[in-house]
Amino acid sequence: MGRVDLDQFAVLRTPEGSAALDAAARVAGGDPLTSAAALRSAGVPADLAAAALTQAELRRRATGKFGPEAAGMFLTRAGLEQATRRVVADRRAARLRDAGVRALADLGCGLGADALAAARAGIRVYGVEADPLTAAMAAANAGAAGLADAFTVECGDATAFDVSRVDGVFCDPARRSTGTGRRIFDPKAYSPPWDFVTDLAARVPHTVVKVAPGLDHALIPAGAEAEWVSVDGDLVEAALWCGRLAELPRRATVLRAGAVHQLTGSGTEEAAVGPVRRYLYDPDPAVVRAHLVAELATALGATIADPSIAYLYADTPDVTPFARCLEVTDVLPFSLKRLRALLRDRRVGRVEILKRGSALEPERLRRDLRLAGDQAASVVLTRVAGAPTALVCRPTG
Ligand SMILES: C[S@@+](CC[C@H](N)C(=O)[O-])C[C@H]1O[C@@H](n2cnc3c(N)ncnc32)[C@H](O)[C@@H]1O
Repeated sequence: MGRVDLDQFAVLRTPEGSAALDAAARVAGGDPLTSAAALRSAGVPADLAAAALTQAELRRRATGKFGPEAAGMFLTRAGLEQATRRVVADRRAARLRDAGVRALADLGCGLGADALAAARAGIRVYGVEADPLTAAMAAANAGAAGLADAFTVECGDATAFDVSRVDGVFCDPARRSTGTGRRIFDPKAYSPPWDFVTDLAARVPHTVVKVAPGLDHALIPAGAEAEWVSVDGDLVEAALWCGRLAELPRRATVLRAGAVHQLTGSGTEEAAVGPVRRYLYDPDPAVVRAHLVAELATALGATIADPSIAYLYADTPDVTPFARCLEVTDVLPFSLKRLRALLRDRRVGRVEILKRGSALEPERLRRDLRLAGDQAASVVLTRVAGAPTALVCRPTG
């Protein structure tokens, strides 16, 4: 399926394009060649059919991130991949509004997922986007959402935007290279540039920056609050809340089944070390990345079994949104032979393999275990006081 360029996008915005988009939405999701043939036999020119089908396919994929609103949005593949999901954008927008932000610059607004959320929250948003097609689509998305007055987009370089016009700034720098689309891991290679982004905090009283969840803690600006966010167990982003927005050093926000749970702390505490106990807790990735494992240990009355490994152990099973709890039935120094013998003995035919602090490849281990039986178990590969260890576990009620 073809990529959409500015000319094709202009055609998609005409009544003919709109009819092609409706037709594409009806056939999308099936075999691409059959869908294209269906559109062409309905009289849609080949180029327009390809562009409309690309949009229809991207809209289908975007539903998971944006909900039903995706059906009216204009999207690029790269823009969709980098866009913030609605549940996360809405929470950020509400926090900005509650902090008193009235006018927000979104510097590198992409397709506008964050900007739209802020506009829905009642904030006036000035989006700046360097890529002409993405900027045009963001503006169209504002119109489709009925927010054209609240969210306007200019195509240009975000570093030239006059931030004295706003009382808040949001920046979600591009973390993919424009040419190759490859992921950029080093924040210094982000665009807009990292120095510009971190300097915004000194210029605007309310600054928030979205970053990759793998961000090195050493790069967190002094005085900023760093928040890690997970959605249903997937770590989706980190955000740096600067200036007046910083409330505390570290926050883990866990969005699970529609509910919001937050754990906060210094990010510098160390959990007490102890033996493996009857219950193992596997913390949510947002808690681990926020360095809040010690705070969670305190809340659960738990200890860790190795200073560098984020599994927690306790004598009682608590229900917590911040970790999954398993009951430990066996503790073995790691040995393939012993593990295989034990699992065979228990008639375990299906294993879930979890690991922290082990270089073993779960799929390879699963093959090597050659399991047979009608029982299921969780096998946890880890280290206990430095020693490679396998824990056999079962779910708690
Ligand atoms: C990660 S995306 C933003 C996604 C957006 N927050 C969303 O959720 O839809 C970053 C965007 O910044 C744009 N960008 C990168 N450098 C820029 C610059 N110097 N000026 C303006 N836009 C820039 C890229 O084209 C890209 O669309």
